[in-house]
Amino acid sequence: MTGLALGRTGAYVAVMTEFSALDQRDGLPDALRVLLAEYPRDIWQSHRNFDGLTRFWLERHLMFRQALDRLRSEAEAALDGRMDPDRYRQNTARLAGFFLNQLHGHHMIEDHHYFPQLSALEVPLARGFEILDADHHMLDGHIQGLADQTNAMLRAETAGFTTATGTLHGALAGFEGFLDRHLVDEEELVVPVILKHGSSLEG
Ligand SMILES: [Fe+2]
Ligand SMILES: [Fe+2]
Repeated sequence: MTGLALGRTGAYVAVMTEFSALDQRDGLPDALRVLLAEYPRDIWQSHRNFDGLTRFWLERHLMFRQALDRLRSEAEAALDGRMDPDRYRQNTARLAGFFLNQLHGHHMIEDHHYFPQLSALEVPLARGFEILDADHHMLDGHIQGLADQTNAMLRAETAGFTTATGTLHGALAGFEGFLDRHLVDEEELVVPVILKHGSSLEG
């Protein structure tokens, strides 16, 4: 990304900033992966500081992945005629409401409670928590869009059901890529910090 910064001469000059937007990156910048190199994913579960908080965090992420996978695959089943439209609507109304509310709440807790504490524990990685916070704002915009598209599908007349379901399916599939990128990067930033410092975060 190109941004503007005030140069020494007082003139605005173009500067390159980190390529960090959620929809444009394929991982965190190397400078933010130094702790991950010391605490690679394959040793997490056996580390003495892998405890309740880390386990809970990873389980929440798995639950979000599974819920989104089910929402997308059931949209496919409805589009292919493998699932009754009424049953699809009932399942989706319940699961989408749960998923979108829980995910938004999860972002709020991370931004306001956990990230400030983790960032203070490992100051060189503070930029990483800013990137994750920015991800949440982008994802929350998509959450609103998904809620709108879910409602459009739920309210669609029979003639418009396939189109509305197809639109929702496309949005879910796109969101899956963004969410997975965010969850992987977040896990690889957060878990090494907890393993290094212990999970003595305020509850
Ligand atoms: Fe997050
Ligand atoms: Fe998270």
